[in-house]
Amino acid sequence: MLQTRPGHRYARLMSVGGYRGSRVVDNAEMCTMIDSSDEWIRQRTGIVERRWATDDETPLSMSVAAARKAIERAGLVPDQISAIIVSTVSHFKQTPSLACEVAAELGCPAPAAFDISAACAGFSYGVGLAEGMIRSGSSDYVLVIGVEVLSRLTDFDDRSTAFLFSDGAGAVVVGPSDVPGIGPTVWGSDPKATKVIEIGDWKQLTTAGETPYIHMDGRTVFLWATTFIADKTKEALALAGLAPDELDVFIPHQANNRITDSMLRHLKLPESVVVSRDIVHMGNSSAASVPLGMEALLESGEATSGQTALIIGFGAGLVFSGQVVTLP
Ligand code: UT7
Repeated sequence: MLQTRPGHRYARLMSVGGYRGSRVVDNAEMCTMIDSSDEWIRQRTGIVERRWATDDETPLSMSVAAARKAIERAGLVPDQISAIIVSTVSHFKQTPSLACEVAAELGCPAPAAFDISAACAGFSYGVGLAEGMIRSGSSDYVLVIGVEVLSRLTDFDDRSTAFLFSDGAGAVVVGPSDVPGIGPTVWGSDPKATKVIEIGDWKQLTTAGETPYIHMDGRTVFLWATTFIADKTKEALALAGLAPDELDVFIPHQANNRITDSMLRHLKLPESVVVSRDIVHMGNSSAASVPLGMEALLESGEATSGQTALIIGFGAGLVFSGQVVTLP
């Protein structure tokens, strides 16, 4: 009979760290690039300003900055990281993975390292994977990073999407725990909806020298998020054995404040639940949005370590993923 490793009983988030693109682009500046208005953007999404990377801020540099914070806050050193998972759709290289480049830059000796492509759900996919890796015994400390530079994939001839996107990175360290710190992951995809959000063919880059832009049918995503995903959010809460009034914090993917409002109505969460509205000053940073929202709530004191938070991501694929976590 094959021998297997003894795993850790439970896993938890030990820390979170973030990095935001340093260029602040408000709606007035955005409206010099597209035919729109500050009022329309605020009313339809809640966004007041967004953060973009400058030329010297890259997926690698932002990932490393977020990861260093998370590793330090976990009380660890890079040598102790046994696996790195990076979720991104804006790493402009097929190989090596961004995770391998992050490992090299951080000076981690030999971690398992790989990227995942699950768009705006990618951070929660990574947390679900990390939890399984720790409980199976294949890793002790897993660094999960969500990072995007969506401003470089934005089509400024498309006013229905250009005002949404932003650049940043969020990282957590997931480690062993004596008590459950990560609830069951609810995840899946809709194979009928592969064309709803797409980033064009990378061949464009080499053949035509054109950037492959994000194309999105926003109305379809909006409807899907406020119905199907709202139900999945309820499922994640129920699987963790929590009633709505036992939840402290709700951190949905920062896609649109109106989607968040609709989810809140669906979930019937009490007013006491703290809700992430990071989109207002950040825009939609896809895989980075949930960890950045988490860090912001903890830094502002609106949320505190040890509280229970429901996180949910949804986006291109279409894919979704969510779980209840204990805040680091
Ligand atoms: O993160 C990945 C997942 N993505 C999402 O979750 C995005 C989900 N979708 C959305 O958040 C929304 O669909 C958007 C914010 C992208 C768009 O908001 P909407 O309320 O769905 O607008 P719409 O596309 O239905 O357009 C409504 C109207 C249209 O005019 P008519 O046809 O009603 O005359 C558009 O032409 O608004 C017009 N419009 C604009 N007007 C001013 C579209 N974009 C703009 C604009 N400024 N930027």
